[in-house]
Amino acid sequence: METVRVGIIGTGGISHVHVKQLREINTAQIVAVADPSLENRKQLIGKFNLEQIDEFNDHQDMLETIPMDAVLICSPHTLHYQQVVDSIQHGCHVLIEKPMACTLDEAEQLIELAKKAKRVLQVSYQRHFEPSFLYIREALSKGTIGKLTSVTASLYQDWKHLTTGTWRQNPSLSGGGMLMDSGSHIVDVLLWTTGLKPLEVECKLEKHKTHVELDSFTTIRFENNVVAGLNIVGNAPCWHETYVFCGENGAIFYDNGKIVLRRLGNEAIIHELPPQTNNSDKSFIDAILGITEVKVPGEFAKEVVALTEQIYRAAGYQAITSVK
Ligand SMILES: NC(=O)c1ccc[n+]([C@@H]2O[C@H](COP(=O)([O-])OP(=O)(O)OC[C@H]3O[C@@H](n4cnc5c(N)ncnc54)[C@H](O)[C@@H]3O)[C@@H](O)[C@H]2O)c1
Repeated sequence: METVRVGIIGTGGISHVHVKQLREINTAQIVAVADPSLENRKQLIGKFNLEQIDEFNDHQDMLETIPMDAVLICSPHTLHYQQVVDSIQHGCHVLIEKPMACTLDEAEQLIELAKKAKRVLQVSYQRHFEPSFLYIREALSKGTIGKLTSVTASLYQDWKHLTTGTWRQNPSLSGGGMLMDSGSHIVDVLLWTTGLKPLEVECKLEKHKTHVELDSFTTIRFENNVVAGLNIVGNAPCWHETYVFCGENGAIFYDNGKIVLRRLGNEAIIHELPPQTNNSDKSFIDAILGITEVKVPGEFAKEVVALTEQIYRAAGYQAITSVK
C-alpha cells in the first residue's frame, strides 16, 4: 500500500484539524465522510475543497460502499465503541479521538478486536507529539529532577459556557463531563509522562446544576510513593493548563506550553523547545505503512479510560456505557 484511503466519521470541530493535517501527508487520501449533520458535512467539504469525495448520513453506509483502509472517528464519546467495532469489521485501521471508549471493559474489547484483525488502533492524544510534553517525559525518565515525589495537574476551561446545549452535557452521548472530555488529555499526561500506575483514588466533583460534572478535584496515590492532585475546572473563564512535577532535586513547571526547570537555591531555567515535527494523523498513517511504531496505542489509552472510570467511581458515579 502506498496511499492510505481514509474515511472520517464525525465532521464537527475536531475533524477540521485532522483534515488539515491529513492533507499535508502525501501518503494519505480522504475518500469519504459520514455524519448525520448535513450542515457539518457541507462545512468541512466546502472549507477544504473536498467536493470530489463521497458523503454519508450513516457510517455503516460509508463503510459498506466505499473501499477504504483507515477510519478516523471524531464523534461523541459513547458512539466511539460501536463505530470502532464496525470499522475494524470492515477491515479498517482506526484512529479514535479521545476518549477511546467510556469504560475499561469496552476499551479492552476494542484492543482485542484490533489485535485479532491485525489493525492499527491509535488514539488521538496530541500531547504525545508536543515538544514540551516530550521534554517533560524524557526529563522525568532521565532523573533531571531526581526521584519524582508529586505532580499537580490543573486544567481550567470555559467548558460550561462552550458546551451548554450540546451533546457534551448529555451523559448518554458524552459519558461524563469535563473530566471525560478535555480532562482526558490531562489524565493522559499524568500517566504517560510519569509511566506510573495509580494505586488509590479519591475525588469530589460538582455538576453546578447541569447533567454532567463541570469541576472535579481528585487525589491519586501512584506507585513509588508519588502523590498527585488532578484539578479539572469547567466553570472557568478561559483555557489554562498547568503542571508541576516535583522531585527530590528540583521541579518542572509547565504553564500553557512554557517550561521552567527550578532547583533549590538556583535561578530558574527557561527551556526553549524545538518545533513540533509530528502529529496524530501523520503518526497514524506512518504506523499503517509500517514506517514507525504505533505511538499512542489502544493499550496505553485504555489506562486513561481505566483511571477516568476509577475517578468517577470514587466520586460515587457509575460509568455510562456506549450506544450499541
Ligand atoms: N484531541 C483534541 O484536542 C480534541 C478536541 C476536540 C474534540 N475532541 C474529540 O473529538 C470528538 C468530537 O468532538 P468535536 O469537538 O468535533 O464535537 P462536535 O460536536 O464539533 O462534532 C461532533 C460531530 O459528530 C457528529 N455525530 C453525531 N452523531 C454521529 C453519528 N452517529 N455518526 C457520525 N457522526 C455523528 C455530529 O453531527 C458532529 O458533526 C470527541 O471525541 C471529542 O472528545 C478532541
